[in-house]
Amino acid sequence: MSAEIIPTHTPALLAAAVERAARLLRAGQVVAVPTETVYGLAANALDPVAVARIYEVKGRPAHNPVIVHVASPAMARECAAHWPNLAERLASAFWPGPLTLVVPKAPNIPGILTAGGDTVGVRWPQHPFMQAVIRACGFPLAAPSANLANRLSPTNALHVQRQLGDRIPLIVDGGDSNVGIESTVVDVTGAAPRLLRPGMIHEPAILAAAGAEPPSTSETPSGPLRSPGQLAKHYAPRARLVVLAWRDEAELLRELARLGARPEKTCVIAHSRIPLGGLLPNVHVIPDDAEAFARGLYGELHGCDEQGSEWIVVEQLPDAPEWSGIADRLRRAAA
Ligand code: TXA
Ligand code: MG
Repeated sequence: MSAEIIPTHTPALLAAAVERAARLLRAGQVVAVPTETVYGLAANALDPVAVARIYEVKGRPAHNPVIVHVASPAMARECAAHWPNLAERLASAFWPGPLTLVVPKAPNIPGILTAGGDTVGVRWPQHPFMQAVIRACGFPLAAPSANLANRLSPTNALHVQRQLGDRIPLIVDGGDSNVGIESTVVDVTGAAPRLLRPGMIHEPAILAAAGAEPPSTSETPSGPLRSPGQLAKHYAPRARLVVLAWRDEAELLRELARLGARPEKTCVIAHSRIPLGGLLPNVHVIPDDAEAFARGLYGELHGCDEQGSEWIVVEQLPDAPEWSGIADRLRRAAA
């Protein structure tokens, strides 16, 4: 099989793509679709056989639940056994957008999707294709990121094709993902919101919208693993990745020598102290702004892998809430 990539950049092409994708999805197939965070590998969330196909295509372990995408608050409620007040507050503040809410699951949500658990992650995405295709299907779409298990998420159609092109029939090209990293995942089944995966909607914003006090360190829940996205090693490029701080190019070169990283086999991703001395052939610059950085990051990491880099060196990020989701992904990529 070789995936067909279809465009969406005019209203007519978008409508045709929605129709093509919806026809395959109704027939129980999986289709790669654009969302504003990263590309997803979608299937009918109410069809356990279709959802099983997602796990098979990704090589995803059965213990890792998949999130469900909806096209309205009403559709989200249909996925939930009950809709907590906290879910209501966060949904009205941030939906449609890059936020996944973990709620008690409704009986019609198949157990394979929730890895046997009694909660389900639900998201109303912002991307116009995603909204239109869910409305056309009339059922919610299960969709993890459209990458092989543990690899880097795709932020454009080409990234999907390289990883999954020989396993799926169709990739819908919706352009570069605007947010660029995966959604924030928040458990709203308890009295206070619990952040399971940081993202571009950061914890202070979640707490403010929830009307909750920031947890004190002693109250921070430890407990058993609740979300496999919390696993240390995840979201990884093939090259070894390190995060470093440097004052100037000379200091950066000394650090590379210490690591044993050859400059010609090293990609440097900088946002503030940009090495311009010409001794490093692969320097990539992303603007020194959290939103712009998130939007560009995965594309640069995919590019470094394509170039056959052995090392990826990312400049240390500012220590501020806006950057916390990006810092989380880099920590996991470096693990
Ligand atoms: O932005 C995103 O969330 C993208 C796009 C396609 O929507 N999707 C995505 O899906 O990143 P995935 O499956 O790669 O990551 C979903 C995360 C995983 O860490 C999973 O463990 C967690 O959400 N998750 C899903 N359902 C859960 C549940 N019921 N309880 C706890 N964690 C859950
Ligand atoms: Mg993923």
